[in-house]
Amino acid sequence: MLDNTKLLHGYPVVDPYTGAASIPKYQASTFNQTDIFAKQDYSYTRFGNPTVSALEEGIAELENGKYGFAFSSGMSAIATVLMQLDAGDHLIVPNEVYGGTCQFTKEILPSFDIHASFVDYSDLEAVKAAITPKTKVLYLETPSNPLLKVCDIRALVQLAKAHHLTTIMDNTFMTPLYQKPLDLGVDIVIESATKFLNGHSDVVAGLVSLNDEKMANKIKLYQKAFGAILGVEEAWLILRGMKTMGIRMEKSCENAMQLANFLEQHAKVEKVFYPGLSSHPDSDIHLAQAKNGGAVLSFELGSEDKVSCLTKHLKIPIIAVSLGGVESIVSYPRTMSHACISEEERLEQGVTPGLLRLSCGIEDIDDLLADFEQALSYI
Ligand SMILES: Cc1ncc(COP(=O)(O)O)c(C=O)c1O
Repeated sequence: MLDNTKLLHGYPVVDPYTGAASIPKYQASTFNQTDIFAKQDYSYTRFGNPTVSALEEGIAELENGKYGFAFSSGMSAIATVLMQLDAGDHLIVPNEVYGGTCQFTKEILPSFDIHASFVDYSDLEAVKAAITPKTKVLYLETPSNPLLKVCDIRALVQLAKAHHLTTIMDNTFMTPLYQKPLDLGVDIVIESATKFLNGHSDVVAGLVSLNDEKMANKIKLYQKAFGAILGVEEAWLILRGMKTMGIRMEKSCENAMQLANFLEQHAKVEKVFYPGLSSHPDSDIHLAQAKNGGAVLSFELGSEDKVSCLTKHLKIPIIAVSLGGVESIVSYPRTMSHACISEEERLEQGVTPGLLRLSCGIEDIDDLLADFEQALSYI
């Protein structure tokens, strides 16, 4: 079954108990047990719930994984997976990792005697040099946020396997529709379902998928014990959102490609970062591991004043934290996604005062182009 069909038929989309054409919201914390000695599928919602299970099966199916888990946010999924490490362990993380993951790794994991090295993943030798006898995990995220830097998943997986490291990858930007990390050899894939999987800017959620039974049992235990489970209503909203994910993503990515070309040619824009553009230094690597450039791009205007001017005049995109909604979303990484790191670290990463990120929605492209044209004319 191909992905667009999978989104509609590849996991429990019809209720197995009633035949309802949409999985109902099993809004119950507990389940009546007719025989207290008999095993039944569901007993208590923190341990499992039919609505949430349907979504967990759905993400496993889309990622080509055996197991799926749903969490209350992308960050709770990331934190729960990283807590699989033991005291004394070391992990390697890309310099441009998502801000929340960076904060968790730098400010929380050391209390558990788990320490990370931050490395430039475009330099394989640097990643190799960071491996120590204590290293257990190679953490990947590509393209990166917000500068869309690309790393070579296959090469990093090969390196990790040679050193018996577990690979964990945040696949939020490309989604399982356009990049399948498990197929490329990654061990555990994480998605912030807050973004494209749900797609309607009305849910916060995280999803995990993997193939290894031992690791899956441990994640299940931690999911239960930390209790950062996804709520029933949220799981239902994502199930609903996922049905249209194929056409949503297609339109968003087409819009991103056109906007990237438009911005790249515009005199008021200094630089565009988008892995679908041939000017992107690693577009070849990206397009060998992903189906297209995705729906997110960023661009450099040169100063805070210009950013302020543009955002004041744009009429269509919302100006907000987050990405992956049906509406276009413009973010200012400096005060939003990257507010939790220092200005010095931001500048080192290229998160300058003149940088804006754009998550393309599914609006008519002519309207989006006209809106950017008129807003840029004020600069
Ligand atoms: C790449 C990436 N990973 C993880 C997260 C965290 O997800 P959530 O906000 O659902 O916790 C985000 C949020 O923006 C993100 O962009």
